[in-house]
Amino acid sequence: MTLMPFAWIRGLSGGLRPLRALVARGWLRESDVDAWLALLHPALRLSRVMARVTARQWVADDMLALTLRANGNWRGALPGQHVQLYLERNGVRLSRSYSLTALRPDGSLEIAIKRQVGGRVSPYLLEHLAVGELLELGPVYGELSWPEQAQGLLLLAAGSGITPLLGLLRTALAQGFSAPVSLLHYVREQGQRAFVAELQALQAQYANVQVRWSLSAAPADASQLQGRFCVEHLADITGLAQRSVLACGPAGFVAQVQQWWQGANQVGGLQYEAFTPPALQLDSQRREVRLGFARSHWVAPADNQRSLLEQAEAQGLTPAHGCRQGICASCTCTLLSGTVRDLRSGLLFSEPGQPIRLCVSAPHTDVEIDL
Ligand code: FES
Repeated sequence: MTLMPFAWIRGLSGGLRPLRALVARGWLRESDVDAWLALLHPALRLSRVMARVTARQWVADDMLALTLRANGNWRGALPGQHVQLYLERNGVRLSRSYSLTALRPDGSLEIAIKRQVGGRVSPYLLEHLAVGELLELGPVYGELSWPEQAQGLLLLAAGSGITPLLGLLRTALAQGFSAPVSLLHYVREQGQRAFVAELQALQAQYANVQVRWSLSAAPADASQLQGRFCVEHLADITGLAQRSVLACGPAGFVAQVQQWWQGANQVGGLQYEAFTPPALQLDSQRREVRLGFARSHWVAPADNQRSLLEQAEAQGLTPAHGCRQGICASCTCTLLSGTVRDLRSGLLFSEPGQPIRLCVSAPHTDVEIDL
């Protein structure tokens, strides 16, 4: 039973400021305050963003759109960004990031979740999460943006790469964008054409919008393309060289698009986002090291083969994090001593006071971090 309706708690965030000040001074613990607030309403928190599921809608055979309404701690996001989502299952806190497909004027937001077969999060969300349940949201991140001044756009999406591009497209059209927009969505089979009814409706409604699908694992019909991304698929696009390109999908797809763009003398720019993690450049020689967490007063044996985030979590610590790919910066922490390797570039950093991203840094020597 809750003592107040959900609509009220959205307006309560400002009223919690005195409690936040007491927590900041160390006079109260945030977890204690949150426990009291949860008695008034389970979505009421001092600073954490809790969101209630207000609608579920299947938008493809393997993709579900969830409409969420967040408490008053939600600070908003931009179209094309992603949000970290947390849930607890069997006592284990799990986290995944999902693209925002809509940011509605009424303050609600929509994310789309693709089923990952054998996954620990998406099958639960798709099959069991009910309207009215609560989820926790984390940091938002993502750099894709709609080039307002573009003479035309080419949107290239593979699989769930459609989701941030749809968020951008919906917003741009609602704001009156009128230059030509061509969207090519690469999927394996017909049932994976996410948001197909809406995209067809947008194409019918807006003369400047053209949408096509390409199927890689099933026969395409006469209006569709067949196979993976290739330059022949772009043959019908008018003014191609002038168009700005936005691409999103698995790393291999994005690499193909980059390769085409670099060789094509495109005048319009390229923005891209790959949603598979970058290959990690681990040290070829395994070493045991010592990992110190200064604020936690904890020193633990560690190795140079796993990220600092993984190793901190293995020690029972719960560092703030979001994407786990080095993008969102929410795991940034200060290096106090020792040398770390950036797992994306292989470069070594040993400057005390240096900010490091725990999810893409591994200890190279004994290391102490401000955690
Ligand atoms: S968790 Fe996003 S940068 Fe580390």
